[in-house]
Amino acid sequence: TQVTALIVAAGSGTRMGGETPKQYRPLAGKALLAHACEALLSHPRITAVRVVIGGGQEELARKALGSLDVGELIIGGRERADSVRAGLAAIDDGIVLVHDAARPFCPPEVVDRLLDALESADGAVPVLAVADTLAKGDRELRGTVNRNQMLRVQTPQAFHIEDLRFAYDEAGSGAPTDESSVMQHAGLKVVTVAGDEDLHKLTTARDWERAEMMLQARMI
Ligand code: CTP
Ligand code: MG
Repeated sequence: TQVTALIVAAGSGTRMGGETPKQYRPLAGKALLAHACEALLSHPRITAVRVVIGGGQEELARKALGSLDVGELIIGGRERADSVRAGLAAIDDGIVLVHDAARPFCPPEVVDRLLDALESADGAVPVLAVADTLAKGDRELRGTVNRNQMLRVQTPQAFHIEDLRFAYDEAGSGAPTDESSVMQHAGLKVVTVAGDEDLHKLTTARDWERAEMMLQARMI
């Protein structure tokens, strides 16, 4: 079967700040988007990598991607979910791995675990345990949540494409933060595999500095 990695890169990187959206900026000499694409292009079980970008960002994206083979660029939408929907409409049937361009390091073992798990589930996602105490509240605490029942959900997230298309059709016009919630809402079975700290999403300037230091120290 066809295994397509769909990398969503149509965001504006508001929390990161700066003039150019984070996905097009060089991280230790190579665009964030290129890091994310290379990690998946190099996986032997992935047959194609496609990228969803914002309207008007073709030039930035082509420059960031250089000679990487990602086929035709797909134009995304206002919310992340709109970008994923656009991607799903543009790719071939089979298996899809939906992945954030803002996660530059994807260990190949995570992809193997996801594809293996998908053989007996509708979806598979990488997760990590929560280390800190989790509480409700704002300036005052209003209860502690049992962190042993909580998971941090990362990307890539693996699905059979027709299931995910169906789930998004069921979802209506909301703005879910990821595919695993859309799938669950549609009553489909999503299983977990072990995630990895290296899959950390670069959201703030602090995340960026830390990732650059790790790359320079060859720790990733
Ligand atoms: N994304 C997308 N289309 C959108 C919004 C987000 O493809 N309309 C992508 C981003 O490019 C990113 C991933 O979804 O690769 C995760 O989103 P996030 O880290 O929140 O990135 P941004 O939305 O760009 O950042 P911010 O929320 O700080 O503006
Ligand atoms: Mg965002």
